[in-house]
Amino acid sequence: MGARKKKAKKKGAMLRGRFAARIHPALDGINRSYDIDCRMWAEDICGSMAHATMLAEQDIISNAAARRIVRGLEEIAGEFEAGTFKAKKTDEDIHMAVERRLTELIGKDGARLHTGRSRNDQVATDLRLYLHALSLRVAEAVRDVQRVLVALAERDGEMVMPFYTHMQRAQPVLLGHALLAYVEMLARDITHAHYALEECPLGAGAGAGTSFPINRKLTAKLLGFKRPSANSLEAVSSRSDAARVTAGLAGVAVTLSRLGADLVLWTSREFGFARLGDAVSTGSSIMPQKRNPDGAELLRAKATRVTSASQRLFEIQRGLPLGYFKDLQEDKSALFEAEDALMEMLDVAEAMLGDIAFDADRMRAAVEDPSGFLLATEAADFLVRKGVPFREAHESVAALVREAEEAGAGLESLGLDRFRAVHSAFDKSIHAALTPEGALRARRAFGGPSPANVKRAVRRWRNMLLD
Ligand code: ARG
Repeated sequence: MGARKKKAKKKGAMLRGRFAARIHPALDGINRSYDIDCRMWAEDICGSMAHATMLAEQDIISNAAARRIVRGLEEIAGEFEAGTFKAKKTDEDIHMAVERRLTELIGKDGARLHTGRSRNDQVATDLRLYLHALSLRVAEAVRDVQRVLVALAERDGEMVMPFYTHMQRAQPVLLGHALLAYVEMLARDITHAHYALEECPLGAGAGAGTSFPINRKLTAKLLGFKRPSANSLEAVSSRSDAARVTAGLAGVAVTLSRLGADLVLWTSREFGFARLGDAVSTGSSIMPQKRNPDGAELLRAKATRVTSASQRLFEIQRGLPLGYFKDLQEDKSALFEAEDALMEMLDVAEAMLGDIAFDADRMRAAVEDPSGFLLATEAADFLVRKGVPFREAHESVAALVREAEEAGAGLESLGLDRFRAVHSAFDKSIHAALTPEGALRARRAFGGPSPANVKRAVRRWRNMLLD
């Protein structure tokens, strides 16, 4: 052994055998991913246990060696759980750290673990296991937010409020309908973040498989996958699953950002629809009276962390030739950043929704404000029910709105003669039809905001969200 080689070895640097010099600190810094990918320690250990078990099953290593490896890995898992695992500066990533520690603990059998495997298939496997667990964690946290929304809809759902198009008051709805809209949006989003274990990359080696008689069906099964992936090059090259799941997380984040935007509006003095509790409100460093919805604003802004992480996961792969490249190592920081931001957002959304009071009077006032003409569609529909074509009815009511606006009055305060002047099909029952309650009761087609529909939807969601 030459003196220079000895020096590289003495520093304990694995994978430096063919080099005469130690790794340059700058390269080491950019190349090292342990601090990020140590988050996948559990997945890495599971993958290694399955691999060792399979190697023994196939007589590639002895049963005794596999037993020692699995026991050693259990011990390492215990160290991670207890927070006592000590990474070394020479541990390039979680895979090298676990393998290094295993060999420290059990000696040369530890060095047999990497038979017929590469970090390329190892990391692809760890990542898929992680995506699966992550998608379950996110789904649970989303359900927590949905539960609070449904509880609010149950408590205050019958309050009447305006809904908006173009940020202009449009028509009356029920608060419950608006809250359940978010429940539905989150339900849709979470289906896009769902990740099932289908194809196991383990056994793809560096990209060209292995010459050992491995049993990929066995490792796939041990790890909970449906089957081994069918092409070793695809297995090590692709991060499309991570990109797809992160895009799903981005969908959830975007919905939360919109909820944040509504909370900002609803809690403003201008709207006055809602008030956040003290614990979920923030103050100002100069204005003593302030009661700010910082949490809601951060829901809006933090969503960009998730959407940009999703974009990064696609961008990292864009233009990459087939095969494994270190570019792909950047996938984890993007995924974990998306995870951290989203989990924080889900927590704060749950906290704010759990401590909010709605102001039924303010919301009703916004509906009944005569200058809003929120019941104009009702007047048009009234004519349609009398046989008038909708376009003609629309035209007549528009003329009526113009007249009322000039008089500074609401539609409902115009006398029957004014109604009949624009269209003879109006009769004395028109005024009774022009109430928010009447409008809402009539909107009972499936998916509409009638009180009966909202009640039914609340019940349906409550049952679906039971533990
Ligand atoms: N740390 C690497 C990653 O996260 C996995 C190791 C593959 N490294 C390699 N030199 N082939 O992608």
